[in-house]
Amino acid sequence: LHVAVLMGGWSAERPVSLMSGAGVADALESLGHRVTRIDMGRDVAERLSEAKPDVVFNALHGTPGEDGTIQGLMDLMGLTYTHSGLVTSVIAIDKELTKRQLVPHGIRMPGGEIVESESLFERDPMPRPYVVKPVNEGSSVGVAIVTDGGNYGQPISRGTPGPWTEFDRLLAEPFIRGRELTVAVLGEEALAVTELRPKSGFYDFDAKYTDGLTEHVCPADIPDAVRDAALEMALEAHRLLGCKGCSRSDFRWDDEQGVEGLYLLEVNTQPGMTPLSLVPEQGKYRGMSYPELVQRIVDEALR
Ligand code: DAL
Ligand code: MG
Repeated sequence: LHVAVLMGGWSAERPVSLMSGAGVADALESLGHRVTRIDMGRDVAERLSEAKPDVVFNALHGTPGEDGTIQGLMDLMGLTYTHSGLVTSVIAIDKELTKRQLVPHGIRMPGGEIVESESLFERDPMPRPYVVKPVNEGSSVGVAIVTDGGNYGQPISRGTPGPWTEFDRLLAEPFIRGRELTVAVLGEEALAVTELRPKSGFYDFDAKYTDGLTEHVCPADIPDAVRDAALEMALEAHRLLGCKGCSRSDFRWDDEQGVEGLYLLEVNTQPGMTPLSLVPEQGKYRGMSYPELVQRIVDEALR
């Protein structure tokens, strides 16, 4: 096959995408495919039409690779591509739209409200602790956990520094105490539950991509009922949003509340494929090497 691997782009997650893309491209080459690596710029349409690939492996994260923009372009161009399509991407990149889609179907997610960044410097939108995040970023970019303490008037206590005003829309959600879990869905199957135990206590950008800063426990050491509920919720969310190929659902679990304490935070339609990423790790747990996983994702696109 001739596979174009789309990577890079200009989102805040560009460095992550370059790592995902390099891993994927190397794996495809090791499998004997012809690979064109495309670091996405504004000339992406031209480069795709020059390449004329049989299939595009989308290794982009964030805007505009995960939000429907590139999916719409590829639909127009008649290209076959991995992962979710236009409508799913538009909804899933937006944590508020995702809630509106999933909560009415019984998927438990934290309540939340859209807040103005300026107002956060004056008053709390809800009792602390709460989390403030851009509605449409990934990798915890711009996420802050606002706790009791000396941070009033300066809501960014932890998380990637940067003025919140740089993000279009912010979502405030009650902070769910307890543990961080994630589930990958590949094809029609939820793979496993991984628990993330960041040494700092906050699974932020650095904890995600610096080797040794987060312990990954796969399979997670949690009660069977919680494991089953997480697998089922991830699969159900994948279906309700119309995800294709591969997605990853992230959870908080309040371990004092049993199964009722399990909350879906979001669904990632372009989950990371870096060496520290969770989908490859769960693939390995299920007996799939990294190249086999990449091939599976391509096969799903060609189905
Ligand atoms: N947004 C990052 C890449 C992830 O979900 O893995
Ligand atoms: Mg995400």
